[in-house]
Amino acid sequence: MRHMSDREHRDYRGGNGTAFVWQSRSEADTARFAERLARLCGPGTVLALDGDLGAGKTRFAQAFASGLGVRDIVSSPTFTIIKEYEDGRLPFYHMDVYRISLEEADELGLEEYFEGNGVSLVEWASLIEPLLPPERLHIRLEVTGPTSRDVVAEPRGERYAAWCRELGMLPV
Ligand SMILES: Nc1ncnc2c1ncn2[C@@H]1O[C@H](COP(=O)(O)OP(=O)(O)OP(=O)(O)O)[C@@H](O)[C@H]1O
Ligand SMILES: [Mg+2]
Repeated sequence: MRHMSDREHRDYRGGNGTAFVWQSRSEADTARFAERLARLCGPGTVLALDGDLGAGKTRFAQAFASGLGVRDIVSSPTFTIIKEYEDGRLPFYHMDVYRISLEEADELGLEEYFEGNGVSLVEWASLIEPLLPPERLHIRLEVTGPTSRDVVAEPRGERYAAWCRELGMLPV
């Protein structure tokens, strides 16, 4: 039987339905999870990523890109806001909206990406919540220790909920 630590009793429900959690013990663990998620994704997937500075959003995005078959080096888009990678199984749109206002984000025409044939991953997505499409997978990285993270998923839409179950995430 698995040892139940205190943090397994954290309440991650945001009030929008079921949330799921997956516990990462290391950076490599997070990478494996992100790669598995990438293999489930289809055109028009939107991943809304949140978590404190240094929680692992970019690390997650890099592994996710690699799971999509992207070979280019994926670096943090903090200053470029949007980076596009076309060499994977699906186009990959990597965004980081930390440095821009909601008004500036609105002018970027993000819906073109969200509704396109690629996969969009937005770091700091909660900052542009009103601009996100109704169907999306929210993922929050919670720092639980020096090398451990809780990956908390809140699916909006049944297709995303199915992925969470397929990934072996636990409902919370
Ligand atoms: N289990 C883990 N999963 C992911 N990253 C981890 C884990 N344990 C340690 N780390 C470390 O946490 C750091 C995460 O950095 P990263 O740039 O991905 O964070 P970020 O959330 O994108 O930050 P920012 O908000 O500044 O963009 C890396 O140095 C990584 O090695
Ligand atoms: Mg980052």
